[in-house]
Formats: sequence, C-alpha cells, structure tokens
Amino acid sequence: MDKFIVTGGTRLHGAVKVCGAKNAILPILAASLLSSGTCVIHNVPLLQDVVVMTDVLKCFGARIKWENKALIIDAKDVHPAEIPEETVKKMRASNLVLGPLLARFGYVKIPYPGGCAIGSRPMDYHVKGLQQLGADIQDGYGFIEAKSEGLMGSEIYLDFPSVGATENILMAAAMAKGVSVLRNAAREPEIVDLARFLNRMGAKIDGAGTDIIQITGVNCLGSVEHTVIPDRIVAGTFLLAAAITGGDITLINAVVDHLEPLIAKLREAGVSITKNGRGIRIKGNKGLRAVDIKTMPFPGFPTDIQPQMMALMTVARGTAVFAENIFENRFKHADELRRMGADIKVAGRIAIVKGVEKLTGAVVEASDLRAGAALVLAGLAADGVTVVENIFHIDRGYFRMEEKYAVLGANIIRVTKHNSNPYQFENFTSQREIQFPEKKRLSLIKIN
Ligand code: UD1
Repeated sequence: MDKFIVTGGTRLHGAVKVCGAKNAILPILAASLLSSGTCVIHNVPLLQDVVVMTDVLKCFGARIKWENKALIIDAKDVHPAEIPEETVKKMRASNLVLGPLLARFGYVKIPYPGGCAIGSRPMDYHVKGLQQLGADIQDGYGFIEAKSEGLMGSEIYLDFPSVGATENILMAAAMAKGVSVLRNAAREPEIVDLARFLNRMGAKIDGAGTDIIQITGVNCLGSVEHTVIPDRIVAGTFLLAAAITGGDITLINAVVDHLEPLIAKLREAGVSITKNGRGIRIKGNKGLRAVDIKTMPFPGFPTDIQPQMMALMTVARGTAVFAENIFENRFKHADELRRMGADIKVAGRIAIVKGVEKLTGAVVEASDLRAGAALVLAGLAADGVTVVENIFHIDRGYFRMEEKYAVLGANIIRVTKHNSNPYQFENFTSQREIQFPEKKRLSLIKIN
C-alpha cells in the first residue's frame, strides 16, 4: 500500500487553486441517471471516489467520456441493474443511486452499505423518506430493494438533517407526481449545488440551502451543463496546513461563505485571515490559542474538518474540547496523533486536547480519509519525519495531495510500488535507518 513520507518544519507559502467538491460531484453523478439527455459537468475532481461512482453509472448503462476537461454523461439508455457488493463497500455514496433509479424506473436494488470506520451509518432516514413518497421498500438479506408504481409528492420530516437522505429524497421527489415538502432538510452547500444541477435539467426545487425544501415533480428531466462548486473541505485542509506550519498562503477559488464556521474558529485561535471574493489569505502565527469545537450540520462546524482541526489544536496554547456530534466513532486519529507526542484524552464523543510545545515524527496510520489528512498536517508541523500509512484513504478525497502541497513548499513523498522517482526512494531507505520516538519504528521501507 502507498504511504507518505512527510518531513516537517517548512512554513507553507504561495497560492493554490481549490478543486471541485467531492461531496457535490458524487450526488450530481447519481442525479445524472435521471436525465434523458446529456449532462456536461465541469470542474470535476479526479478522485478515486469519482472513478468508483462513474463505474456505478456504467453498471446501469450510462455512457461516460471526458471531452475538453468536462465529464460528459449520456444516460438516455440506462436500465435497472445490480451494483456489485464490493463497489458499495468501496464507497458508501453509491447508495445515492437509490432515489434517481427508483424515480426513473420504479425499481432499484442495492447491497446494504453497512457501517464504516467513523460510525454505523444506517439508511433509515433514506428508507423512511422514500416510503413517504410511496415506495415499497424491502430491507433484508443484505440488500435494499425499492419498488413503486409511481412516486407521489408528500410531506416528509427528517429526524436529523442527513446529507445523503436529503439528496436521495430530492432526486426521487424531482420526478414524483405532485408537490413534496421536505422539512429539517440538510443545508450543506453540496445540497444547493445538487438542486441547482437538477433545476438546470428542468426540475422545480425551491428552498435548497434552507431547512425546508419544496419540490414540484416533473415528468422528464433533460440535458444540463453545470460547474461543480469548489471543495470546502479541501480548502479548509489547506487553511489548517498553513495555520499549523505558521505559513502564509492564498486560496484561489474558495467560497468564503462555505468556510465561515472554520474561519471563525481560526480567528478565535489567533490566526489572521483576509477574505477577498473567491480568494482567502491566511497567515499563521506562533501564539496559537486553543479553541473548543462542536461539530454540527451546516452551517455548524463540519465533522469532515474536525480531525484536521484537532491536529492544529495539538500544538495550540491551552486546552481544546472537541464534541463530535455527527459520527459516533470519529476520533481514531487521536491515537495516531498521540504517537506523535500529542496530549489527547478521548471519552465517547468528547476529546480533550492539551497543546504541546512540539510534535515529533512517527509512523502512523490513516484510518479514514480526513483522519489521514490530519496526520499529514501533523507531520508538516512535527520535528523530523512522519510516515503516514494507508494513504489510499487520503486519495479518495485529495487528488495527488503531495503534489498540491509541494507547490506550497511542503516536503511530502509518496512511496508506491511503482515509485516514479526510485532514486530518491532507494537513497532514502537504504542509506539510513530512521529512528522514531514512539512504539513503531521504521527500519526499512521495501519496494515490492
Ligand atoms: C455526508 C458526506 C460526509 C460527511 C457527512 C456529514 C458525502 C458523500 N458524504 O455523508 O463526508 O461527513 O455528510 O456532514 O456527501 N444517519 C442515520 N440514518 C440515516 C442517515 C444518516 O442515522 O438514514 C446518521 C449517520 O449515521 C450520521 C448522521 O446521520 O451519524 C449524519 O449522516 P449523513 O448526513 O447522512 O452523512 P452522509 O450523507 O453519509
């Protein structure tokens, strides 16, 4: 498996452009299954998850190609089919085909997505919402099977503003008969982007971005051209990388409004941030203060930035209390940060982080996507060399992270089976043994 070797101690500086949002393109790709025309999508991030989702669309007969940097999807001839179980296991978001396929064909069957490293992640809100639109849903033997003679608009109340459930319900209701009103809907920017995409196809959706969304069903959805919003989590990770290294960077193409919860907390911590249209300049400073974090649905502090924020707080002055309110098991990075010298205590959904003078390089393991990003950030600030293992998790959401960060002066080397720079790798492994202060010790990194 690939790993990153991160050499700490460089202050990041320069300017970098933020790519399209993973969590926006995934539901948009699913929504393209509703189109009886052609979907042209710009600013698509070249991520592992995007490849998996396009494979899912191909299972249903969608034709997909790249043309002039745009992703073109022709879903005219799609048909019901089964998605292989390993695909759903690779990526939970493949459950987003439930709503569109049910709306278009009156039938869909997908393997039950199950839990993942950060929590159990059930599907009950999705199922209840689709049932309220008139679907007959069987949930058993490891599958969700949904049928309908024709979905009917309805009043739906979500027990929790689930992002995925809001998206599945929006897509299904877009082609239901009559009007649906979805209350306690998720308000994330990615929901707004999905609604914009659907409306450009001919849907009638009002109120996306608020907690009440009204959807008037239409018979048919057509061709669309759309540009995906910038990724607020990728942008937030850059901001935190600058803050933790005391750097000075400018983000190009970031939407300031989407980043307000993080910007507010960074300012509270003593970081200087200047906003300028779609640009944000951040200047880290040495006197970082500890701040408390409570993750909440948008516009609250995003759970997807919590691990990276925790990395920053490990070196802040004082004690920061983290309350993780979205996922029940999202502190796995704390164990790994501890290997690097961090002082963190975890009790259930609360983590208490006491800032230390310095982190030290160690061998650590990414347990999931954002936990992996947090470890890279910690490595950038640490004394010495950090090895981040299992970086396939990171590749799911950050396109060639090491190259993007190299533009800002970071020293991150990817070690792969087919390393493109074998000399650097060979010198690195054969000439010295790297000492680590914690339990794990790296003696040799082997290329198979
Ligand atoms: C999406 C994001 C993910 C982000 C999360 C929360 C995508 C592809 N992924 O995931 O990066 O961390 O939002 O912002 O956009 N829940 C239930 N029953 C359900 C559905 C959800 O109990 O039927 C629970 C979940 O277990 C979790 C909470 O609701 O505790 C929020 O989940 P949800 O908003 O649905 O997250 P996802 O859409 O899976």
